[in-house]
Amino acid sequence: MPLAVRFDEYGDIDVLEVREVPQPELAAEEVLVRVRAAGINPGENAIRTGVMHERWPATFPSGQGSDLAGVVAEVGSSVHTWSAGDEVIGWVDTRASQAELVAVPAGNLVRRDPAVPWPVGGALFVAGTTAYANVRAVGAGPGDTVVVAGASGGVGSLTVQLLRHAGATVIGLAGESNHAWLRDHGVVAVTYGDGVLDRIRAAAPNGVDAFVDNVGDGYLDLALGLGVAKDRINTIIDFAGAARTGAKAEGMSGYATVDVLEELVKLVAAGDLDVPIAATYPLAEVRAAYRDLMNRHTRGKIVLLP
Ligand SMILES: NC(=O)c1ccc[n+]([C@@H]2O[C@H](COP(=O)([O-])OP(=O)(O)OC[C@H]3O[C@@H](n4cnc5c(N)ncnc54)[C@H](OP(=O)(O)O)[C@@H]3O)[C@@H](O)[C@H]2O)c1
Repeated sequence: MPLAVRFDEYGDIDVLEVREVPQPELAAEEVLVRVRAAGINPGENAIRTGVMHERWPATFPSGQGSDLAGVVAEVGSSVHTWSAGDEVIGWVDTRASQAELVAVPAGNLVRRDPAVPWPVGGALFVAGTTAYANVRAVGAGPGDTVVVAGASGGVGSLTVQLLRHAGATVIGLAGESNHAWLRDHGVVAVTYGDGVLDRIRAAAPNGVDAFVDNVGDGYLDLALGLGVAKDRINTIIDFAGAARTGAKAEGMSGYATVDVLEELVKLVAAGDLDVPIAATYPLAEVRAAYRDLMNRHTRGKIVLLP
């Protein structure tokens, strides 16, 4: 029987197990994918602890994960777009991608370009579509100076590059160990913490036009303190702060489409979008992977390799 991540109750990382499960049953419009890589995201950690129960309840036993890249093993009876052996990148909404075999709607997949490494393909959907949302939410373009908090994380590392493609000047807030990476990607690196407001003002003598918050932790007030208009501030995490201040809180949901994923895959294949892979773990080490992620100092993405 294939292996999959499961948990039977809300709790800390130790409730996660990797177990043998029955092979997923395939609906007519689904494709069975043998997963080669499945990215992990902080939101899955939040769901597993139960803090999101009101918004996104779990049913037990629960699987985990949205992101995946892999090889088509079998297709449902009404699927004509894919065949066994096709290499694909995509997602599921069923909390199931952290597994050896996953049933995926045929419309949630794009072809893997061979120039896209498996871990990158498996890391792309959640972080990539969220980064895409960030750029659209703040409406950034040529002439704009945009500050990005959490510039080196999974979402931030992609957001800063998409903002550069849109023509913006980008100031990335990150720890010093990430400054060289940011500079290599055309980003002005600024250390967060005490005195950050003055450091941003020094880095942006003509002012800041837009602000992307990937961290929470008071960054919306910092953005307002910099004089950024609230409709050009976006947070993907501080929903209470957005409600209080009138800032935007646009996440991936508006951009979780196969067209956006295809665009991201093309950028990666062309060498125009670098998806840093901080670490990979075998599926059996799912707990270690989440411990690493929840230190919250990942550069780019952490990926499970079933
Ligand atoms: N709404 C949505 O649709 C949506 C979608 C995806 C994710 N999210 C949420 O967005 C957040 C970011 O996700 P992610 O995958 O990018 O997380 P992540 O990869 O874990 O982010 C880690 C990064 O955060 C940086 N960081 C930590 N503390 C910081 C601080 N005080 N100031 C600035 N940067 C700091 C770290 O930088 P250093 O190592 O340099 O310190 C590290 O690079 C999570 O809370 C996630 O749940 C929301």
